[in-house]
Amino acid sequence: MCAVSYRELGLVNTVELFKKAVDGGYALPAYNFNNMEQLQAIIQACVETSSPVILQVSKGARDYANATLLRNMAKGAVEYAKELGNPIPVVLHLDHGGDFEICKECIDNGFSSVMIDGSHFSYEENIALTKKVVEYAHSRNDYVTVEGELGVLAGIEDDVVAEKSTYTQPEEVIDFVSKTGVDSLAISIGTSHGANKFKPEQCTLDENGILVPPPLRFDILEEIEKNLPGFPIVLHGSSSVPQDLVKVINSNGGNLKNAIGIPEEQLRRAAASAVCKINIDSDGRIAMTAAVRKVLSEKPGEFDPRKYLGPARDALKEIYKHKNENVLGSAGKA
Ligand code: G3H
Ligand code: 13P
Ligand code: ZN
Repeated sequence: MCAVSYRELGLVNTVELFKKAVDGGYALPAYNFNNMEQLQAIIQACVETSSPVILQVSKGARDYANATLLRNMAKGAVEYAKELGNPIPVVLHLDHGGDFEICKECIDNGFSSVMIDGSHFSYEENIALTKKVVEYAHSRNDYVTVEGELGVLAGIEDDVVAEKSTYTQPEEVIDFVSKTGVDSLAISIGTSHGANKFKPEQCTLDENGILVPPPLRFDILEEIEKNLPGFPIVLHGSSSVPQDLVKVINSNGGNLKNAIGIPEEQLRRAAASAVCKINIDSDGRIAMTAAVRKVLSEKPGEFDPRKYLGPARDALKEIYKHKNENVLGSAGKA
């Protein structure tokens, strides 16, 4: 089968975008999509805030929506941005590639960037697997960028569940990056996937009785930055889990217990550093679910999907505009 060129789809890799983000002290948004409404919201938000964007596709998204359809949706997204009057740079990125085969399939089929997540393997196995993906990705006619990961995030990553975080060891990063040749490195400094990032007993209470999670390990991030000056760093698991939206879900029949995320001011601090890609998925899920639950509980007779998916899409767009403008600093950088 003939390879699909991401450049022909109008997509870009992350090289220039990361360089500008590291130099400019902001982070690019990496938002996951699985369906049309999520993609519309992401593009509308990024066009309106004039932000470059990384569209992320997980294995779960490929299984849910079909890989060919997702790639053509990304192509459509590039054209949609143009039609909206702002041709923002768009990256199509494989999120948490679990093995060489899925990375190769994406590289051959129009992705401009892939993540090979070898973080659950031994250090040596992680290096060998990551290097193999990098060699393949970088030898294509169109250079495909590769994100590796060192350190393990607690929570669920596709099918892999980790009970506890294992922080990235700063003394390993130079060796890992030079042996693998990755273009960016995802690290573990206290973020985790999903809506329950901390247990209440790990948190303190502020004066309003709101749970405050333990801070991210900025000391580890600083050590990593010292060892790899100017190298693009990635943060996964960076949803903030807005409590107002959790309340909307729970007061409309939902049951999200002890949902706690990463406070926005910590993400702002990370974005100003060498962290140049911040992954957010759960907040989008929460925003959409809150909107759908609200419509369906206020209008129990409603059965037109556009009447609940439309408000869900609008809510998603608003939260992503807010992140670009007030958290990541990517607004105006397209
Ligand atoms: O890191 C995980 C992302 O939120 C994607 O989640 O594997 O359920 O699509 P998913
Ligand atoms: P959240 O679950 O915090 O949104 O993280 C998403 C993510 O890291 C996708 O790779
Ligand atoms: Zn992730």
